[in-house]
Amino acid sequence: MRVLSGIQPTGRFHWGNYFGAIQQYIDLQNEEESYYFIANLHALTTIRDSDELKTLTLEAATDLLALGLQPEQATLFVQSDVPEVSELTWLLMTGTPMGLLERCHAYKEKKEKGVAADAGLFTYPVLMAADILAYDSNVVPVGQDQVQHIEVCRDIARSFNHHYGEVFVMPDAKVLEASAKVPGTDGEKMSKSYDNTIQIFEPLKPQRKQIMRIQTDSRPMEDSKDPETDHLYQLLSLFASNEEREEVAGIYRTGGFGYGDIKKRLADAAESYFSDARARREKLEQDPGFVQDVLSEGAKQARAKASEVLDRAQKATGLVR
Ligand code: TYM
Repeated sequence: MRVLSGIQPTGRFHWGNYFGAIQQYIDLQNEEESYYFIANLHALTTIRDSDELKTLTLEAATDLLALGLQPEQATLFVQSDVPEVSELTWLLMTGTPMGLLERCHAYKEKKEKGVAADAGLFTYPVLMAADILAYDSNVVPVGQDQVQHIEVCRDIARSFNHHYGEVFVMPDAKVLEASAKVPGTDGEKMSKSYDNTIQIFEPLKPQRKQIMRIQTDSRPMEDSKDPETDHLYQLLSLFASNEEREEVAGIYRTGGFGYGDIKKRLADAAESYFSDARARREKLEQDPGFVQDVLSEGAKQARAKASEVLDRAQKATGLVR
């Protein structure tokens, strides 16, 4: 089984990225083969400052290693280091109906908000399909918001295979039910574009302040509350053991508690949960050469696989004489 996923370096990673996706990368890295990459080509649709993109790309790789990706187990690389993927994107683009891309919610949402869309944003799912298909990926661990893009990838692959024979492997999305859509500080999906994120490696003091500012309702303390519909409870659940989850759910149902106490619990839980990763990150920061080496080695391995698949697709389409 081959596992693959990508993550954009558009800012420092947040709890949604971690519990929706990165945690799965780490759990799955011991599978037969796993490929994880920093999607800097996708990030070009939002970041237009070269120094910023370079810095964020290296930071993203450092974060993934600190969080537990092991280069001996998983191939970690930067998307643009594998030019075969961009070439494959064109082959796929020629068989992708416009209507399929028009229905993609990431594009639709931005358009509805009046964001001037460029062709990069519109064709973003085709590049993502190439990312997945270029490595014969079977499983793609992601959060809920990427599931539609994987469906699009399957549609594109199906249509290509229909015309040219069995060139591509059909991938499946893998979503963790409990953390498919991690809420942000306002209860909406945690997302940088909603400005409601809590970053994993935010220094502890400001992180604690952010947690204390998580929006809560203004019902009287005594009231009984339903934990399942409360985003503060959902966030705490990500870190809590089963016993603690049960205990806090009981407190909610009984009522007579302050949200401030739950927030303090959450801040403590997050601090201890990521403390090893923070320590590893500090070490890695002292050794950017190591991170660069991991990425160079990863790119070599990824290119070897992607060029094999591109070759197959080129032969099938008649590009190779
Ligand atoms: P990106 O960079 O927006 O997000 C990276 C991963 O984090 C997940 N995620 C969440 N999961 C649960 N709750 C949240 N609040 C939350 N916010 C983010 C995302 O679902 C994702 O898994 N297009 C992709 C990157 C990409 C890719 C690929 C992914 C490019 N090529 C190929 C898989 C396969 C993206 O923008 O993810």
